[in-house]
Amino acid sequence: MKIRIKEVGPRDGLQNESHFVSTEDKIQFIEQLSETGLDYIEVSSFVHPKWIPQLADASEVLSKLNRKEGITYAALIPNLMGLEKALKVEIDEANIFMSASEGHNKSNINKTISETFPVLEGVVKEAKANHLSVRGYVSTVLACPYDGPVTPEQVLHVVDHLVDMGVDEISLGDTIGVGVPPQVERLLEVLLSKYPASLFAMHFHDTYGTAIANIVKSLEMGIATFDSSIGGLGGCPYAKGASGNVATEDVNYLLTQMGCNTGLSRSKLLDTAFFIEHKLGKQVKSRQAEIARNGG
Ligand code: HMG
Ligand code: MG
Repeated sequence: MKIRIKEVGPRDGLQNESHFVSTEDKIQFIEQLSETGLDYIEVSSFVHPKWIPQLADASEVLSKLNRKEGITYAALIPNLMGLEKALKVEIDEANIFMSASEGHNKSNINKTISETFPVLEGVVKEAKANHLSVRGYVSTVLACPYDGPVTPEQVLHVVDHLVDMGVDEISLGDTIGVGVPPQVERLLEVLLSKYPASLFAMHFHDTYGTAIANIVKSLEMGIATFDSSIGGLGGCPYAKGASGNVATEDVNYLLTQMGCNTGLSRSKLLDTAFFIEHKLGKQVKSRQAEIARNGG
């Protein structure tokens, strides 16, 4: 089975960082990622710059970036205003987002779940009219930092609406990184009784160190696409306590050792992790980076 890793480092990885990474450094970061063998990079976000100041330069990053053929350069899009800006600088895929829980949805995008559907429907319609594919994120699929546990039925409700809108892929996010394999299993049992596994990607944050276990459970259930962030960077500013995404280099290790051909270069991934570590002025947290620091 071909397993696909989708890199979210330049967006999810940087959005929570208070130290501003210059536009030139972001571009170099993305261009280095483009050389690692990745074929999908979420490069930035067209949300309100007041809420995510780190990514206020999304238009500049996308317009100056040297793109490599064969790579999908995607961006996070909250509404039509965001899409209009993104269309001016060309993106390959529009990534819309909302939550399965009311508390996080409201805090993150200032709307109830039912108020969000028509907004995203408008984005999907316009994106499709412009020949873009659309990825839909569902956050808080296992637990919400405001409302507590989230049921598979709450997730299904949002997934049903996204499918009706015509999204091409749905990424299921354990936003606060608290989930464990039996919860992943219950969620996927419900979703896969209605939809094919190929519709879904899994997006695990790694707050409690359970992301790798959750990926293995998802693989066993037929999921073949995983989001990750170089150096384990990441977090949602509207989900208190949420730590980084599972690290790309650690997912790559897991998959290659399990016999999957990821097509990724460990050394180039690590070079890129250390590049952004230097720019952020803080150590990245991944097992592979730690091993490399110790000479491995
Ligand atoms: P809002 O305030 O409700 O928007 O924000 P509004 O439509 O009421 O407009 C208010 C003002 O915002 C207006 O300006 C608009 O023009 C402006 P004013 O008239 O007051 O001067 N505005 C915009 N400006 C720039 N770009 C835009 C835009 N839209 C409106 N696109 C909004 C709604 C969604 C925009 C806001 O709440 C927001 O930007 N939130 C940021 C949320 C965010 O980025 N969260 C992190 C990403 S999600 C995540 O990390 C989870 C994920 O990784 C998966 C997982 O881990 O679970 C994907
Ligand atoms: Mg995330």
